[in-house]
Amino acid sequence: MSAAPRPPEAERFPSPAEVAGGQPAAAPPVVDIRGVWTCFGGTVVHQDLDLVVRRGELLGLVGSSGSGKTTLLREVVGLLRPSRGEVRLFGLPILDADPDARREVRRRFGVLFQHGALFSALPVFDNIAFPLRELKRLDEAMIRDLVLMKMAMVELGPEMAGLMPAELSGGMVKRVALARALALEPELLVLDEPTAGLDPDRSENFVKLIRTLQRELDFTVIMVTHDLATLAGLASRVAALSDGRVVANGTLEEVMAVDHPFTRSFFASLRQPALCGSRR
Ligand SMILES: Nc1ncnc2c1ncn2[C@@H]1O[C@H](COP(=O)(O)OP(=O)(O)OP(=O)(O)O)[C@@H](O)[C@H]1O
Ligand SMILES: [Mg+2]
Repeated sequence: MSAAPRPPEAERFPSPAEVAGGQPAAAPPVVDIRGVWTCFGGTVVHQDLDLVVRRGELLGLVGSSGSGKTTLLREVVGLLRPSRGEVRLFGLPILDADPDARREVRRRFGVLFQHGALFSALPVFDNIAFPLRELKRLDEAMIRDLVLMKMAMVELGPEMAGLMPAELSGGMVKRVALARALALEPELLVLDEPTAGLDPDRSENFVKLIRTLQRELDFTVIMVTHDLATLAGLASRVAALSDGRVVANGTLEEVMAVDHPFTRSFFASLRQPALCGSRR
């Protein structure tokens, strides 16, 4: 695989103290959500929500439908401004940064949206090439090599490059979307319901693929899922969203043990030895 070892955060963004010869500063969290309120008209979706994701974590975000998970991811990647509070990505308030800094941060994360969201008018190749063309100045030969490499990473053969999204199965759409999210070799992968719509076998394969890639490429993951097997197979930490806040946060076992109406109902079906045992 192509990923070169990455320097720690503090080496890339020296603090004023470091520049002045002081002690290295601690790396900022990859995602830092502080006191976020989100209101749509009279509907309050998040109320004073805090959540931190550190480098190397695979955070699974759970919550009932409409609890504001996708909205929170949109705020994390700078597509939506919270009504109040602050969201920092790699230590930077992404929506308030200058255009160059935003562009730089934009290269450091990849997103797999809830419904796959490929460009339906573009073939597989151009879907995966899109972020490379948008955010990097590369010649077409380099783009071709990178696209084919990403396709191989997600186990798609080069013969798939010319297919249109409508010609793909649900599992293939997910793989293409994952290849596109990985195109810029992101430090953070944002996944919204990555296994939704896949049958259990395909879902398990997709989880294995993400886990293998995460070990090889060492990215951080923030993932929304309703799927208990995906959560059990992938998340190193779980945060549960309810009533606009994070009501439980910890390992899967810790979150399962939290006595809250949401966690009680959500995890009821996970209290089975077979599923719990499958967690890495
Ligand atoms: N742009 C918007 N304008 C108005 N309301 C919105 C907007 N985006 C989201 N909402 C509302 O915010 C709430 C949270 O939506 P969100 O999509 O974040 O939920 P979710 O937790 O991702 O749900 P699901 O599990 O079904 O995907 C919902 O009530 C939704 O209708
Ligand atoms: Mg959603």
